[in-house]
Amino acid sequence: MTMHCRQMTPALGAEITGVDITDLDNQTFDAIYESFNKHSVVVIRDQHLTPEQHVAFSRRFGKLMIHVLKDELLEEHPEIYKLSNVVKDGKAQGRPNAGQYWHSDLTYEETPSKGSVMHALEVPESGGDTMFSHTAAAYEGLSDAMKAFLEEKTAIHEFRHAYEKFTKRIPGTVPIPEEAFAARPPVEHPVIRTHPETGRKCLFVNPGFTVRIKELSFDESDAVLEHLYRHMTKPQYFYRHSWQTRDVVLWDNRSLMHCAVGDYAPEQRRHMHRTTIMDSDAV
Ligand code: SIN
Repeated sequence: MTMHCRQMTPALGAEITGVDITDLDNQTFDAIYESFNKHSVVVIRDQHLTPEQHVAFSRRFGKLMIHVLKDELLEEHPEIYKLSNVVKDGKAQGRPNAGQYWHSDLTYEETPSKGSVMHALEVPESGGDTMFSHTAAAYEGLSDAMKAFLEEKTAIHEFRHAYEKFTKRIPGTVPIPEEAFAARPPVEHPVIRTHPETGRKCLFVNPGFTVRIKELSFDESDAVLEHLYRHMTKPQYFYRHSWQTRDVVLWDNRSLMHCAVGDYAPEQRRHMHRTTIMDSDAV
């Protein structure tokens, strides 16, 4: 097999074909890793993974994080977070409607995430796409005055924020236990972070988990964040992934936000497994 990499947009996204990620030599893995850093979203088609193989591939990128929603973890492999609207024998097979707002995974953690690896086990006939926006390209598109203003600013992130602001409004949302919120109190991260591998500066705020910019008044913070979110989701910073069964998509949480599109009919099954890699450079 020969690996082939096709860039999908100038700002982000690449599709890799001709690899079996369960059987990668170091040279091919290094080429995928390079593509992950360069393109931020890497789509690898037609991968038949067991949960063990999914975890083993993800571990090649770094230490894995365990999601705070314990009921949504795969029993034998808690590194896998199940996102699913499938119900089997009356039991939900994962969290439905997850991530249907712009966010980067796990920015509410003290040590945030490097990236995520999602395996599509079942996808709707149409709909259920994931949208990605590039936070380094968006940073580079700001004026010098705005870049200087944001330097040294700090953002507060909290897990509860996404639930209160977005998820609980979606019909059929399963309530999140108070213990999960209590286990993840607010944390602080710089508004601008330098990507440790590319050296590019990235905006590190997102509508899901960013509560406010600490140094500003509430009103000022709302206005600045609203401006940044409008800017970050401009089409030139954007890639929309339409899933095929057996896709594996890696994305870089240091240089992207993403949003799952909840437009599919409830009887259309969408069943995904995701691992989340720790950003050990941020420790
Ligand atoms: C997520 O990881 O936040 C959800 C992505 C998706 O289900 O498309």
